[in-house]
Amino acid sequence: MKPIYILNGPNLNLLGLREPAVYGPETIGDLEMRCAAKAKALGQQVVFRQTNTEGELIGWIHEAQSKASGIIINGAAYTHTSVALHDALKAVNIPTIEVHLSNVYAREPFRHHSYISPVAHGVICGFGGQSYELALDGIVQILKTSGKG
Ligand code: DQA
Repeated sequence: MKPIYILNGPNLNLLGLREPAVYGPETIGDLEMRCAAKAKALGQQVVFRQTNTEGELIGWIHEAQSKASGIIINGAAYTHTSVALHDALKAVNIPTIEVHLSNVYAREPFRHHSYISPVAHGVICGFGGQSYELALDGIVQILKTSGKG
């Protein structure tokens, strides 16, 4: 069975230090462990990555086309700016779920638009680290329904 790729964008390496009132106390390492534990409980493999570079994120999305069963992506700030991320996700034909730790719709207006949402199966935001676990539940359901899980 192919793994689910969990891809994280810029500044998420600073979780724990960065605006803890918004993003919570968990570090990116804590988040990775949380995802690994949830994946194990679901009988799935995950590949968890973070980058501060748009091109690297796009390379990983291309790689996911042949190597992953699905993508969970927190594009972070690139969510709101990147047509290239939109195009890359549109180009690969595997289930994708957009996640955010914070409720982006309760924040500044520039966070209300996402280039990822129109090319994602669904969006989960506002549950802190649990957003990722909910996304794993959701993507596994999609994979099972499509006979690929
Ligand atoms: C974020 C929300 C984005 O607006 C922001 O740029 C981030 C993190 C979140 O997980 O809540 O870096 O994606």
